[in-house]
Amino acid sequence: MTDTPKLRSRAWFDNPDNIDMTALYLERYLNYGLSLEELRSGKPIIGIAQTGSDLSPCNRHHLVLSQRVREGIREAGGIAIEFPIHNIQETGKRPTPGLDRNLTYLTLVETVFGYPIDGVVLTIGCDKTTPACLMGAATVNIPAIALSVGPMLNGWHKGERTGSGTIVWKARQMLAAGEIDDMEFIRLVASSAPSTGWCNTMGTATTMNSLAEALGMSLPGSAAIPAPYRDRQENAYRTGLRIVEMVKEDLRPDKIMTRDAFINAIVVNSAIGGSTNAPIHLQAIARHMGVELDVTDWQKFGLDVPLLVNLQPAGEYLGEDYYRAGGVPAVVAELMRNGLIREDALTVNGKSIGDNCRDVEIEDPKVIKTFADPLQNKAGFLVLTGNLFNSAVMKTSVISEEFRDRYLNNPDDPDAFEGPVVVFDGPEDYHHKIDDPSLEITDRTLLVMRGAGAVGYPGAAEVVNMRAPDYLIKAGVTSLPCIGDGRQSGTSGSPSILNASPEAAVGGGLALLRTGDIVRIDLRQGRADIKISDEELAQRRRDLEAAGGYKYPASQTPWQEIQRSLVGQLESGAILEGAEKYQRIDQT
Ligand code: FES
Ligand code: MG
Repeated sequence: MTDTPKLRSRAWFDNPDNIDMTALYLERYLNYGLSLEELRSGKPIIGIAQTGSDLSPCNRHHLVLSQRVREGIREAGGIAIEFPIHNIQETGKRPTPGLDRNLTYLTLVETVFGYPIDGVVLTIGCDKTTPACLMGAATVNIPAIALSVGPMLNGWHKGERTGSGTIVWKARQMLAAGEIDDMEFIRLVASSAPSTGWCNTMGTATTMNSLAEALGMSLPGSAAIPAPYRDRQENAYRTGLRIVEMVKEDLRPDKIMTRDAFINAIVVNSAIGGSTNAPIHLQAIARHMGVELDVTDWQKFGLDVPLLVNLQPAGEYLGEDYYRAGGVPAVVAELMRNGLIREDALTVNGKSIGDNCRDVEIEDPKVIKTFADPLQNKAGFLVLTGNLFNSAVMKTSVISEEFRDRYLNNPDDPDAFEGPVVVFDGPEDYHHKIDDPSLEITDRTLLVMRGAGAVGYPGAAEVVNMRAPDYLIKAGVTSLPCIGDGRQSGTSGSPSILNASPEAAVGGGLALLRTGDIVRIDLRQGRADIKISDEELAQRRRDLEAAGGYKYPASQTPWQEIQRSLVGQLESGAILEGAEKYQRIDQT
């Protein structure tokens, strides 16, 4: 073991140059039973950044796991100090949990920077908690390790797996078609949540926890362990052990979260069928880390990667199956065998991702497929551009067979998708109007959601995946193409073009669209364009500006207003612009 580097906590508890403050710092941390010997022992003080609470069911199990983390920390010669950071529950927060990712980030940065903490365990899980914690770790850059809470057990209903979120879209269609009543709808949805943990589908939580592991920020094999399994408790203990060693080795996030690590994460995201929230969050983490990354990297490195993981919504299975099949290391090993992983990227256990995963086998080839027998070829994200936006993302792995063959895979068919649009200004407008027959929505209609970006609907709402009107569902048309400046739930299988940047609220092209306009989507060229002349487009822009710009609802809380005044666009991670310049703030 190398010499332990100078610990930052010494400045609080062992500073002979400022005995007044040292006494003051010591006396209050003594008052709940820590001893002088402990606080002045030179042992690393390890923070446990707690995201779990009664309000955050997905991460609540961290309240239990942190006991095992403490035992690991103590065993390895550290002192544990647990503290809360701002909690976010994806399914509970109004108006949208997207608003809070940057707030959790701020609370982590302020806490770690401002208190005597030498290393930190990040308790990740529910969608936004993972990027928020990794963004904070990037900014502060003290030794940090992520601990996933784990997915829920598989949900079941009448012998079939029911997956988080995905079952909602299906049950909603059954309700609209009159096949089930309200109570059956609620029971069917509830069947997908049989235990503590996060969404058991390949939603944003499983995605981001898998990517945290692919980035090298959590112990190998840890992302997929279901929350209630004993292995999860063991993993919590090992995470506690390891963070103390990391402090002694001075192993910091900037040695782990390199450009190579981010490219590995992009590749893994395609192979797992990861969420379209991943480009936003990875971009945000990379910017805080000071790593070059661009939304177009998702197509460059990710598009041609096959889909290997057979989890809902793109596939069949759920979280427990993913873990039993080998989880992230089995996926990485298969990608390595095909030359797609930058194997030297370092991970929190002090070894490279290549060394960690090289010999891992796929345990169940129905759940984690091989390159020889993938679920789909070319399963990554398309990054589109055009006169409606600078960039938008489309998840190709959830596009229907028919849509795929017609618009993406058939080189002889010059057809692009062209159709009239119906425009909605925010989710409330959509909910009021979608079933109104006078909109004359047909199977050729494109639904447009605007006013749902980082500024328009503060934090960006997951609302672009819009259900077709009830009358079309009854006629057998279950999904329509959607475009929007908001986000989409990772548990949705909708073929949407989303994260459009810039958003309508800051003058993006979607603000100029009118219901009835024809929009042409050419997936092969990677373009989405409104079919009107440049002159008319320019005239519409002048009219919009003369009218004072695109209108969106007023802020309801101080944080909404603050975030709106500082936040950037989804394509650049929707971070607080201006926060990026504070990098590696503990380095001095
Ligand atoms: Fe928390 Fe899905 S709602 S992980
Ligand atoms: Mg979500």
